[in-house]
Amino acid sequence: MPAKSKLSIGLAVAFAVMTACAIAGMVTMMIAFEIQSSNLNMTAPPTTLPPTLPPEPDLRLPRSLIPERYSILIQPHLYSRIVEEVNVTTPNQTLAFTGNSTVYFFCNVRTDKIYLHSDELKISSPFVRNLDTGKQMAVNGALQYEEGAQFLVIETKEVFMPGGNYSLFLSFEGDISNNLEALYVSKYTETNWEHENVTVEDRFLAATNLEPTSARRLFPCFDEPDMKAVFDLVVIHRRGTTALANAAEQSSYIIDEDWKFTRFHPTPKMSTYLFAFVVSEFEKTTSTESRVTINTFARPEAIAAEHANYATKITAKILEFYETHFDLRFGLSKLDQIALPDLEPLAMENWGLVTYQEGALLYEEGVSSWLHKEVITSIIAHELAHQWFGNQVTMKWWNEIWLNEGFANYMSYLAVDHAEPSFQIKEISIIDDLHTAFEQDALNTSHPLSESMEYVQAPGEILGMFDAVTYSKGAMVLRMLAEHVGENVFDSGIRTYLKTYKGGNVEQNNLWEIIENSRYEKSMFSVPNLMKYWTTQPGYPVITINTTNGEIYQKRFFYNSAAESSLNWLIPITFTTNISKPAFVWLDVKGPVKKEEFISKKGEWILVNVNCTGYFRVNYNPENWERLLDQLQTNPDLIPLMNRGQLIDDAFNLARAKQVNVTLALNSTRFLRKERAFLPWESAVRNLEYFFLMFDRSEVYGPMQLYLRHQVEELYDFFRNDTDESIVPKDHSSQHTQITAIELACSNGLPDCIEMATTKFADWMETNETNSIHPNLRSVIYCQAVAAGGKKEWEFAWEKFLSSADTSEKEQLREALSCSKKTWLLNRYLEYTLDPDKIRLMDVTSTINLVAENAAGQALAWNFMRAHWDYVSQGNAAALVDGVTRRFSTEFELQELRRFKEEMGKYGPSRAVEQAIEQTEVNIQWVKENRDVVLEWFEKETAHLD
Ligand SMILES: *[C@@H]1O[C@H](CO)[C@@H](O)[C@H](O)[C@H]1NC(C)=O
Ligand SMILES: *[C@@H]1O[C@H](CO)[C@@H](O)[C@H](O)[C@H]1NC(C)=O
Ligand SMILES: *[C@@H]1O[C@H](CO)[C@@H](O)[C@H](O)[C@H]1NC(C)=O
Ligand SMILES: *[C@@H]1O[C@H](CO)[C@@H](O)[C@H](O)[C@H]1NC(C)=O
Ligand SMILES: *[C@@H]1O[C@H](CO)[C@@H](O)[C@H](O)[C@H]1NC(C)=O
Ligand SMILES: [Zn+2]
Repeated sequence: MPAKSKLSIGLAVAFAVMTACAIAGMVTMMIAFEIQSSNLNMTAPPTTLPPTLPPEPDLRLPRSLIPERYSILIQPHLYSRIVEEVNVTTPNQTLAFTGNSTVYFFCNVRTDKIYLHSDELKISSPFVRNLDTGKQMAVNGALQYEEGAQFLVIETKEVFMPGGNYSLFLSFEGDISNNLEALYVSKYTETNWEHENVTVEDRFLAATNLEPTSARRLFPCFDEPDMKAVFDLVVIHRRGTTALANAAEQSSYIIDEDWKFTRFHPTPKMSTYLFAFVVSEFEKTTSTESRVTINTFARPEAIAAEHANYATKITAKILEFYETHFDLRFGLSKLDQIALPDLEPLAMENWGLVTYQEGALLYEEGVSSWLHKEVITSIIAHELAHQWFGNQVTMKWWNEIWLNEGFANYMSYLAVDHAEPSFQIKEISIIDDLHTAFEQDALNTSHPLSESMEYVQAPGEILGMFDAVTYSKGAMVLRMLAEHVGENVFDSGIRTYLKTYKGGNVEQNNLWEIIENSRYEKSMFSVPNLMKYWTTQPGYPVITINTTNGEIYQKRFFYNSAAESSLNWLIPITFTTNISKPAFVWLDVKGPVKKEEFISKKGEWILVNVNCTGYFRVNYNPENWERLLDQLQTNPDLIPLMNRGQLIDDAFNLARAKQVNVTLALNSTRFLRKERAFLPWESAVRNLEYFFLMFDRSEVYGPMQLYLRHQVEELYDFFRNDTDESIVPKDHSSQHTQITAIELACSNGLPDCIEMATTKFADWMETNETNSIHPNLRSVIYCQAVAAGGKKEWEFAWEKFLSSADTSEKEQLREALSCSKKTWLLNRYLEYTLDPDKIRLMDVTSTINLVAENAAGQALAWNFMRAHWDYVSQGNAAALVDGVTRRFSTEFELQELRRFKEEMGKYGPSRAVEQAIEQTEVNIQWVKENRDVVLEWFEKETAHLD
């Protein structure tokens, strides 16, 4: 199937620094530098410390010294442009930065060693001072653990005494990275109209991306989320550039011909991973609607073309909503947002300086799909929610990063609904998160939301926590709790929680206790008692109900039917029937029970988990399934919209797990022929994708396409006039449906659709400059036209991709280029991902994954990924492995995957490879068992068709 164009809020941090972080690595201590004692007036230090330093067993800093404030000066030597003039010595671009910092700390526990983080920095001139006496303290020696802990250890002659205040000064130098890590360089082009000939010139900027553990690559620091401190920053930068940071500018002046000095106000107390600054030639638009000054920065060309206007406007609304909803102010006097040409995650919530990929912030009237506003609003709402959840109240440690990410996703539903009610986005994004979480969390290799601390120590393990479970399950579990205790109670609990812990760090139990205390009346089960089942255990339950005798039981849901688990959950259940009102029961952790409520009367169906508020799947006896599916065919509106989508999703996934017949799943798609709402279609498309992946290289493909063509025909016709005229319906949900109709119809070979797409694309190729395809329809039409076309269409799209300065248009084209059916074109496209001037490094993973999604590109992408692993794995290696192996369903592919695992050893994205192996095994089994039945079903359904 063609790729869905929805950007997912996905991984906030994706750069997989798969450092080998075994504790063993720490034993190989390396002397990183010698103390330059001469200018420091201290006794000559030994070149190394005695090997009695305790290797920190859990890679964690000791808590003997606690930082309070940093005073940092950083000077990036990068040029923002390279001026080529005959006589002037043209500066070579330089990727060096230098700086110095003083950290002020106090002592908790007597010690003679300062442990802090530092990685890939060259450090000199340590200078320790006792602030209480004003005296300098002599340094004995210092060393750097390069592997593993990434600690810098400084030993002093005198000891630090509990209650005492001290400071440590260090000078450092490092490299601005060119692979989007830590402080990195980003390159873009600008059209220069000043000269007689219009020229396109290169521009450079430096930006930071520090979550979770890269602050230590910028300056030596106590780089753990609960070591919060105030940051005073000075940036010395090139004269023609602007420096932005977390806090507002305090003062600035020109130093000389080359340099400018900018000092920022002190930040609030915050975690190191939120530290940020950017040096660029960017310009801004400013919102005047808000108490807080909101600036949106972007390339000057994008600002001039007003591409940042939508983001600016919507940000003001969202920020105001949160301030009211949380009853707590944002915490800084200004909020800067910046659209960066390169950024590894989609966006990063640095307090006061939120960074975005351009596609997540810029909106181009007449070019961007109208639906792209939903993406922008959702991402902004997610990042702004972090200004409270994460920035003001932070998890103690990365094992509970879901307290940041789950809340940000959950709050974004509310904020988007408030800022753009016409989007009606709540249901769509909720189901999206629910299905995303359900899918990953059904694997044996899944992890609890609140992971045990011992598994989250090394940077690679910390990065591994930024996955679908953390984001999507986190949001779903919060939604379940909110529905259960009531939104009023939940909201007032949240307000108390934020007020109580602002500026501090929390564990999830702090949250549960506060919400419990906000309840007016106590329930049979307390919030902490309820939530421990959902957050400290991996996976989720499927409950099975027999409506003949009312029996109900639960077990953990696995795709792998051989997997066993004894886990149980405490489950709040809402249910409804065709003859009664919604009602509630508890299912507790004991074995099967019979409940009167679940015995159906004659002709009665029972629907469990109304509006999908519970994080579990539901299975019924065949008779109840049949009644529900009958209802869908006769009068679907009696079943709530979200459940219409969910019934399909449950049926398909239960079939995948072999708990119902696959024919039941297929039967659940019959009612779609009359369905006009987006959610059920979306759910079907998503689930059928698995059928496409498993069967699009087999004889099942023909009858399956025929069936879907038939199912979607009426929907396609419903929008046909609009589509032919390149117009779109009014409401957003129908706009989504229109796109789904075209996508399904074309990709399943409906001739009218393919003709429509190729004609529209050919018109564009002919007129070249004027593109009359409606922005909403561009993505799907480009893809279908490239799929139906050959070299000419592909190269036209490629030319447009290279020449377009519009972020949205580029994205649409980049995706369409992966839709070709010609392997040589796909192969060449893959090769292009190795050249950052063609495909930006941040887009490499998704481009390869897009090619892999295409049946014609599957094998190419897998081979390509392995052949160029070192380069392509610089992106999100886990997502890459996941994407490229999704179609794997043969023994041969399994063997290749195992070999890949051996080659990678522990340096690869091991969790992702494990999951791919597990998924492939499941797929092999599934195809073996289902191919014949599925083929027969599709053949029977389509026997009466052409
Ligand atoms: C270049 O430098 C030379 C010698 O320094 C000088 O004579 C000449 O005028 C300069 N040319 C320009 C265009 O500045
Ligand atoms: C850049 O540096 C290299 C090596 O130091 C030197 O050979 C070259 O001339 C420099 N280029 C410019 C434009 O200054
Ligand atoms: C820190 O670096 C700046 C810029 O290089 C320099 O001016 C300043 O003197 C340094 N501070 C100390 C204490 O060395
Ligand atoms: C389910 O959701 C719909 C629409 O979002 C709402 O009107 C209805 O009250 C909800 N039902 C229950 C039982 O919460
Ligand atoms: C449901 O219960 C009835 C009555 O006890 C039993 O005959 C039937 O087999 C059960 N159905 C399933 C699917 O377990
Ligand atoms: Zn986030």
